[in-house]
Amino acid sequence: MRTAAFTDLTGPDGVSIIEQSTPEPERGEATVAVEAAAINRHDLWILDGDSAMVDADDLPFVSGLDVAGTVETVGEGVTGVAPGDRVVLCPNETCGTCRYCREGPENLCENFALFHGGLAETARVRADRLVAVPDDLGLVEAAALPTAYMTAYHMLRRIDADPGDHIFVPGVTGGVGVAGVQLADALGAHTVGTSSSRSKLDRVESLGLDHAIEGTDPEGIREAVEAIGPVDGVLNHLGGEYTQLGFDVLRRGGRMAVCGRTAGGRSEIDIPDLFLGHKRVIGSTMGTQGDLERIVDLVVEGAFTPEIAATYPLDETGAAFAAMQNRERVGKLVVTP
Ligand SMILES: NC(=O)c1ccc[n+]([C@@H]2O[C@H](COP(=O)([O-])OP(=O)(O)OC[C@H]3O[C@@H](n4cnc5c(N)ncnc54)[C@H](OP(=O)(O)O)[C@@H]3O)[C@@H](O)[C@H]2O)c1
Ligand SMILES: [Zn+2]
Repeated sequence: MRTAAFTDLTGPDGVSIIEQSTPEPERGEATVAVEAAAINRHDLWILDGDSAMVDADDLPFVSGLDVAGTVETVGEGVTGVAPGDRVVLCPNETCGTCRYCREGPENLCENFALFHGGLAETARVRADRLVAVPDDLGLVEAAALPTAYMTAYHMLRRIDADPGDHIFVPGVTGGVGVAGVQLADALGAHTVGTSSSRSKLDRVESLGLDHAIEGTDPEGIREAVEAIGPVDGVLNHLGGEYTQLGFDVLRRGGRMAVCGRTAGGRSEIDIPDLFLGHKRVIGSTMGTQGDLERIVDLVVEGAFTPEIAATYPLDETGAAFAAMQNRERVGKLVVTP
């Protein structure tokens, strides 16, 4: 089979199409003919050589967490899915035996890892991590859902977002940002989002963003958010200087969920502001398979349509990563092997 493998950890030029043997499922596994694989900033960290998870010894490395397609073959003991089923993968890899797996939620698993291998014609996966894709949901749209939407959904749950709340989403035009807006909108909450690009904000406004702020200067953004009013929750996937900015605009008792570090892996925060304001900061990674199942239901019920920026054939996977790096697009970039 053909794979879009990382052969150098030097950015988008490091992707090569290489032949690898088509995997066979082992006990409890299935193989999926990959129709669509969405890419995430997580893959780009690896490709840029900026992830502790993969180094030169691991090359060639086939990344890609978000797989949708059709089951090809199933291994021994698999009963939940059969060849021909349309499926999307929940990329959580959990041990099933630790305290967190026993008591939940599963994404707290102390051995938590992520599936990689979607940027290929065939993916070998844990069969019990496959979620059924109804006929009226396209596989490209389904592939957009796991990492970005599941993460945003879980963050909204962790900050106890309620209808009518104001949710601040710095960096609102990418995978997690757009997902946060669409899911908050479906919940009946209001959103305030930022971007460096006016035209990208226009697009996100058409998807439900209530207040768009163009800019990258934290001071200017702070003033613009304060003019709207204090926010009840923050979805922070940028880190860096956006963490204190988020605290500045949070109301007393407000909550901030943090899932990423695009703007920096370290943040300084004003400790008296945190405790005198009774604010909460909550780390959050991915979501649960139950979250993903609910998101699939929401899309099928018409609550929102996942935003696909562009699709790329497998041999243009490098161009998809370049588009992500250049901050060109709104929503999800999806490779279609
Ligand atoms: N912990 C988890 O489970 C988890 C899950 C998913 C994602 N994440 C993390 O969340 C972050 C977002 O992931 P994603 O896949 O949604 O990424 P993405 O699609 O690349 O996000 C693009 C957004 O980030 C903004 N941005 C990019 N570079 C920036 C910079 N240097 N300073 C400020 N804003 C910047 C862009 O702003 P413009 O509109 O101005 O271009 C755009 O709004 C990543 O750090 C990722 O690793 C974590
Ligand atoms: Zn576990």
